[in-house]
Amino acid sequence: MAVFLSHSPSETVAWAKAFAKTLSPGDTVLLEGNMGAGKTVLAKGIAAGMGITDEVTSPTYAYVNEYGGKLFHFDCYRIASEAQAYGLGLADYFGRGGVCLIEWGENIKGLLPAAVKVVTIKGEGESAREIGFEDSCD
Ligand SMILES: Nc1ncnc2c1ncn2[C@@H]1O[C@H](COP(=O)(O)OP(=O)(O)O)[C@@H](O)[C@H]1O
Ligand SMILES: [Mg+2]
Repeated sequence: MAVFLSHSPSETVAWAKAFAKTLSPGDTVLLEGNMGAGKTVLAKGIAAGMGITDEVTSPTYAYVNEYGGKLFHFDCYRIASEAQAYGLGLADYFGRGGVCLIEWGENIKGLLPAAVKVVTIKGEGESAREIGFEDSCD
């Protein structure tokens, strides 16, 4: 797995902008890491790299934020069960042709498509972050 060392939020955004260029419509990307690791910072960079100019905010309370049908940003931290997620219609987003970015995807495992890309962020506080990338198809 390729690992990038990020020393600041802006370095994480720069990595994410470049990563966004490798994505295709319909891709699902799991953003993994602890609370405060930088998953939402990374999502902002991916959106910027896709040319989205709307402000990207954490979808913690809404579960999913939609950016013009091109990008869907999920935060499943508060999802209690896959049945709840299914009832909320979260499974429907995967067939809509946008890029899906998912924080706390482990809470909706059974709803995820088979092919996913996984970005892992390790580190917290003011320390550097190790950003790793894996493709379930490789
Ligand atoms: N190298 C870095 N990359 C990303 N975020 C960083 C970095 N260094 C410090 N931070 C800070 O860590 C926090 C990450 O917050 P956020 O992206 O909301 O985390 P998460 O979505 O993983 O819970 C932000 O306050 C950000 O400024
Ligand atoms: Mg977040």
